[in-house]
Amino acid sequence: MNAPEIYDRIGTDYATMRKPDSRWVARIHRVLQGHRTLLNIGAGTGSYEPGFISVVGIEPSLIMIRQRSSSAAPVVCGVAEHLPFPEGVFDVSLAILTVHHWSDPAAGLKEMRRVSKKQVVVTWDPDVFVREFWMVRDYLPEAVERERQKAALSFVLTHLGPASIEILPVPEDCSDGFWGAYWKRPASYLNPTVRGAISGLALLDQGIVSATLDRLKFDIESGRWQTRYSDLLTLSEIDLGYRLVVAER
Ligand SMILES: C[S@@+](CC[C@H](N)C(=O)[O-])C[C@H]1O[C@@H](n2cnc3c(N)ncnc32)[C@H](O)[C@@H]1O
Repeated sequence: MNAPEIYDRIGTDYATMRKPDSRWVARIHRVLQGHRTLLNIGAGTGSYEPGFISVVGIEPSLIMIRQRSSSAAPVVCGVAEHLPFPEGVFDVSLAILTVHHWSDPAAGLKEMRRVSKKQVVVTWDPDVFVREFWMVRDYLPEAVERERQKAALSFVLTHLGPASIEILPVPEDCSDGFWGAYWKRPASYLNPTVRGAISGLALLDQGIVSATLDRLKFDIESGRWQTRYSDLLTLSEIDLGYRLVVAER
């Protein structure tokens, strides 16, 4: 199954479950200040699109496009690998939590460099993710290899060239329900609607996920989870490896 089809299947509740988080909005918008035109690639339902720049989105999934609000930026149906725009026409191109879904991420990143001088990518460092996120490390070791194989931070850096990298900590009440968002709210992962909006979980073998959730449910109800992760309960945010990458050609 290719990526547009994936989001036509799992994207139904995206706008409800994946609301842009205000702390991430502030960090992402800070690096977009001072620019006039932006292409949002894998634009989805329009999360994180700034109101202070002229924005065009490109997104392959109609299920995602249909969830964009009536006031959202115009969007073209298409893929990162073939951007239907002339060279250098945008000040900035933006790709948030999407590169790992592209069928040819190297081609898509090359296209970002072609159409814009500045490229901004939100991705993650799989080493930090599998080391720091209790759910993958302690409950889903089956996911570790899969996470490491995705086109994430090192891949993006290889293809974009010199870049600045900023940590995007995940707040305890993060409103964008990506996989790490509920690190301090473990019972949320028991909710199928929550899991449905997390591709890393929705695309795993559901037999494995179901066995994992049985263990997690038992640990939460018995208090074992709270005892084991008592150090996490004192934190208001955590670094799970999510990174804001800014490159210029
Ligand atoms: C996790 S969502 C992120 C959406 C949005 N950027 C956000 O932050 O909410 C990943 C998006 O990438 C899109 N996508 C998948 N393959 C793509 C491709 N080849 N080119 C562009 N976008 C793609 C999916 O359809 C989906 O909307």
